[in-house]
Amino acid sequence: MPEKITIVEMSPRDGLQNEKSPISTANKIALVDQLSDCGFTRIEVSSFVSPKRIPQLADAIDVMSGITRNHSVSYAVLTPNLRGFQTAIKVKADEVAIFTSASEGFCRENINCSIDESLVRFAPVLNAARALNIPVRGYVSCVTDCPYDGPTQPSQVADVSAKLIELGCFEVSLGDTLGVGMPDAVAEMLSAVTARVSPSLLAGHFHDTNNNALNNIRVSLEAGLKVFDSSAGGLGGCPYAPGAKGNVATEQVVEFLHSEGYATGIDVGRLNSAAQFAKSLRSAS
Ligand code: HMG
Ligand code: MG
Repeated sequence: MPEKITIVEMSPRDGLQNEKSPISTANKIALVDQLSDCGFTRIEVSSFVSPKRIPQLADAIDVMSGITRNHSVSYAVLTPNLRGFQTAIKVKADEVAIFTSASEGFCRENINCSIDESLVRFAPVLNAARALNIPVRGYVSCVTDCPYDGPTQPSQVADVSAKLIELGCFEVSLGDTLGVGMPDAVAEMLSAVTARVSPSLLAGHFHDTNNNALNNIRVSLEAGLKVFDSSAGGLGGCPYAPGAKGNVATEQVVEFLHSEGYATGIDVGRLNSAAQFAKSLRSAS
């Protein structure tokens, strides 16, 4: 039996959050619905964050309420605080994610607080989620490089990741937010993180600015990771990571993993159609 790798599909959230022209709620729902038929088990749909900071996702409630759910899929949303979590519960998110950074500069720009303060903010989210049995993913951004602070120390990534697991996250996704991490830097970072956190609790989240994301996935597989984030059509970016390109394209990741003998459960034909549709949204309104 080929080994199974899980892909967490990012295009509706990370893929669309930085698109400048408005994308209709109907098109966002159509994208999620297409992705729901591709064989993914996890799709990140949107974010409950400040609509002034991320205007493209201001319709998160309507998107979550409008999708047609496939019961094999867990639908996730970003919830940086208790307010976001409470909204997520109202729209029946299956999973939520909190997000911080290994670098102070990005943390401040992205969520307006220090790393330590972010962990304090997350505690009530984790407590509320525990009471309702909602799984909480944690993101650590800037795992090799930060747009504001330069290179990131691997020990810092390990420290923040371990704290997120201690707080109660079921998984930590390690974000190369800028997409500039070289495979040797990713390997060094993973060596530090996996000394503190089991690779079975880690995911790789590689933006593909320098076309190294597949090499970074290879290095991560060697370190024992089995969960990767990617975005159909390669859409994406973060307004607080200037110059960064999208997540690695899901269709490239699936092709790579299948060619390496891994199973993903993804239907390539349906994925390619969804990726075409995702790319068409870049200019659609
Ligand atoms: P804050 O700036 O500390 O201040 O917010 P606040 O709590 O006083 O709220 C500021 C404003 O946001 C207020 O509105 C609140 O009402 C509103 P105003 O008074 O200005 O009209 N607000 C909310 N609105 C809706 N839902 C909420 C909510 N909370 C506050 N839950 C906060 C902190 C995190 C909310 C803010 O800084 C923010 O929204 N930042 C945007 C962060 C973001 O979404 N970034 C992109 C996603 S992260 C990413 O892409 C990286 C990742 O992909 C991994 C990687 O690639 O590395 C995950
Ligand atoms: Mg990202």
